[in-house]
Amino acid sequence: MPTLAAAEASNAGFAPSYIPVAVFAGGTSGVGHAMAEALARQTKGRAHIVLIGRSAEAAEKIIAGFPKPVDGDEGWAHEFVPCDANSMASVRRVCAGLRSRLKRINFLVMTAAGPRGNSMVETGETDEGLDDHLSMRYFSRYVYSKELLPLLVSAREQGQHAHLMTVLGAGFGVKLASSDLGLVEARRSSIKFLQGVVLSVAALKGMIRGVGYNDGLVAWFAAQHPNIAFTHIHPGQVRTPGAILEAGWLLSPLAWVITRLRHLITVSQDECAQYMLHGLLDADRGLFIRDNHGDIVSAHVFSPDHTARFVDDSPTARKAGVLNGVQMKGYGGSDATVAALMKYTEEVLSEIK
Ligand SMILES: NC(=O)c1ccc[n+]([C@@H]2O[C@H](COP(=O)([O-])OP(=O)(O)OC[C@H]3O[C@@H](n4cnc5c(N)ncnc54)[C@H](OP(=O)(O)O)[C@@H]3O)[C@@H](O)[C@H]2O)c1
Repeated sequence: MPTLAAAEASNAGFAPSYIPVAVFAGGTSGVGHAMAEALARQTKGRAHIVLIGRSAEAAEKIIAGFPKPVDGDEGWAHEFVPCDANSMASVRRVCAGLRSRLKRINFLVMTAAGPRGNSMVETGETDEGLDDHLSMRYFSRYVYSKELLPLLVSAREQGQHAHLMTVLGAGFGVKLASSDLGLVEARRSSIKFLQGVVLSVAALKGMIRGVGYNDGLVAWFAAQHPNIAFTHIHPGQVRTPGAILEAGWLLSPLAWVITRLRHLITVSQDECAQYMLHGLLDADRGLFIRDNHGDIVSAHVFSPDHTARFVDDSPTARKAGVLNGVQMKGYGGSDATVAALMKYTEEVLSEIK
């Protein structure tokens, strides 16, 4: 486990010969904000940093605090792109806009989450019919990944860093479900006696499922792009504006106690960002499942000519924790469940225009 000083020292060695392009989907607050800020400091502002979120005001404040390169330096930019990540149409528009004007992306970091995905008592559907807990934590990240991958491929082809990172809950080996992938049944039959009073089974399922689905997401794309780095990482317990669990009024005294106790084990978002950045910069290619100190729980580097295998129905393909024949600690997918999740995801997204 690297100490904070060791993570900082390792990050301090990042001095690329080119201007890195880094996109933070969720960079206007919390872990994403702190990571963007740490990268801006490390590069002395010589980076093209894109913050994606809803709050232009928050983004402007963050960008105003970034160091600015000296006159004469070219290619750097610090910008905000608005997006409601609960709308896949909006995420697609943002991706199309980025693809039309960026030649490459070196780092794509996805942290966006929201109150609708943090509630343990309430759940529902977005306007596009997606589960509240899965829309931002999984579906938007799938769309960003798929639509921006060509720009990561371009960065790699130029011999530069190319790394896609999703920050959620890696390392727990949450098994991927094989039915009710969109939680429609779970919402219909959720055990909940009074609105907003007791925990909703569907809400809890949504929170847990999102974690496993993110394993599936990185595994799917990593096996198809063996020359790029893909990471699912756990940030740990972090003091961020969004780290508030909604537990209902009946459990609010307990929530109050947990919040106080939580302060004993949480880290600041700046400290967390150093560990996350360490995970981001300390990888060349392959799949990485990392913990809250940026340590590798498991990793696999595919051969450059690896052909992704998700469709065969052999006993190995159904084994949880095995990706294309490779056992991965802390990974919850199997080739069969990942294939089913991706098929389902594509079907659902194809209905959203
Ligand atoms: N903090 C923790 O202790 C903790 C623990 C375990 C896992 N995690 C996971 O780690 C990740 C980062 O957590 P965090 O605490 O840094 O989150 P956060 O403080 O809640 O930040 C969330 C980001 O998501 C953006 N966002 C919220 N709703 C949005 C929407 N509808 N459309 C677009 N962007 C939206 C916010 O920007 P705008 O407000 O500008 O839209 C903000 O930039 C999340 O996936 C979270 O689930 C966090």
